Amino acid sequence: MKPIRIGFIGVGYIAINAHLPGLAPLVEAGQAELRAFCDVDEKNLAEQAATYGVSATYTDYYQMFEKEDLDAVYVCIPPTLHTDQITIAAEKGIAVLVEKPQTLDIGQAVRFDEAIRKGGIVSQVGFQSRYCPSAEKVVDLLQSRTPRHALVQALSSGKPVRYWTSRYELCGGSFVENTIHMVDLLRYFLGDIETVSAFYVARAPDEGPEPMNMPHVYNVNYLFVGGTTANFTLSRVLTNTPTSRRSVQIISDDSLIEWSADRVVENDEVMWKDEVGCHPSFAQTRAFIEAVKAGDPGLVKSSYANALNSLAAVLGANASAERGGQCLALDDLIAGRVVGPPV
Ligand SMILES: NC(=O)c1ccc[n+]([C@@H]2O[C@H](COP(=O)([O-])OP(=O)(O)OC[C@H]3O[C@@H](n4cnc5c(N)ncnc54)[C@H](O)[C@@H]3O)[C@@H](O)[C@H]2O)c1
Repeated sequence: MKPIRIGFIGVGYIAINAHLPGLAPLVEAGQAELRAFCDVDEKNLAEQAATYGVSATYTDYYQMFEKEDLDAVYVCIPPTLHTDQITIAAEKGIAVLVEKPQTLDIGQAVRFDEAIRKGGIVSQVGFQSRYCPSAEKVVDLLQSRTPRHALVQALSSGKPVRYWTSRYELCGGSFVENTIHMVDLLRYFLGDIETVSAFYVARAPDEGPEPMNMPHVYNVNYLFVGGTTANFTLSRVLTNTPTSRRSVQIISDDSLIEWSADRVVENDEVMWKDEVGCHPSFAQTRAFIEAVKAGDPGLVKSSYANALNSLAAVLGANASAERGGQCLALDDLIAGRVVGPPV
């Protein structure tokens, strides 16, 4: 079979650190071909093209779509820069791997979802945690448990490294930009989310670090369709200390499961441990390329349609916090019924 011809829109941090290294063995094995790169940063574009031996480079994705015959495109640009990349790909029958958060505009995400369904293309949103073997272990354990609630805590240290990830209006805040991974993972364990209520602790304009303008703390409560609940706390207060914590706990009758990428513990007993150094991003890319080869959108774990509930859950948290913690149904958010200025 011919290699899957791949184009990239955006060859920044995530492309360089996850997707391109993940594709490298597939390129070597003749299963994939890095056909074209597009990036508006010409210096970076030239560097990445030289590193990966890609001769077709573009600063305009319209030209890339016009001139290149692609089977798949990786869309790796910040969320506010999504315009029509996905709709063009869908119309042309080109499979899409798009990074999270898919966009900050739920109405736009609904339109992209419709285009993807119409085009019948394979789509994958970059929720690689679903590809951790430890996630499968939890899914497996929960088959015979009765989950009641979950607790997720992320106390993040350090400053955002890119300008756009330090600005609320550009990344949606840390809950949207980062915690969406854990929200999506809990959906993988517990099913879709129905309702959200959130309170944030605001950051005053002079409370830096510059140019950060995002909340200090995000407290978010979810009700899942199946009746379980989850409570998330994300804190960005530990800015200047290397100390950080993250915990994901799923509590069932007589079972406390603690998930991390490399280990699963139940009631203090290690149930699974990563002995080989798993790389979920690479597994995600392998699954995506297999799905494109087979022309089967069902072979990925996080299609655009599936991921819509995760996006609505984090954008819903922002909308709720902006409305004083008002309880919001995600169906209302997706249908555009949460409108007007925050109260
Ligand atoms: N899955 C993960 O764990 C993970 C980790 C990091 C980032 N991400 C996501 O990946 C996406 C990209 O983030 P990043 O960290 O790589 O950002 P980045 O800023 O490092 O890279 C983005 C690249 O896109 C380019 N670009 C911007 N507009 C463009 C356009 N119109 N056409 C072509 N190129 C354009 C920029 O020049 C830049 O090189 C974001 O949605 C982010 O949230 C996901």
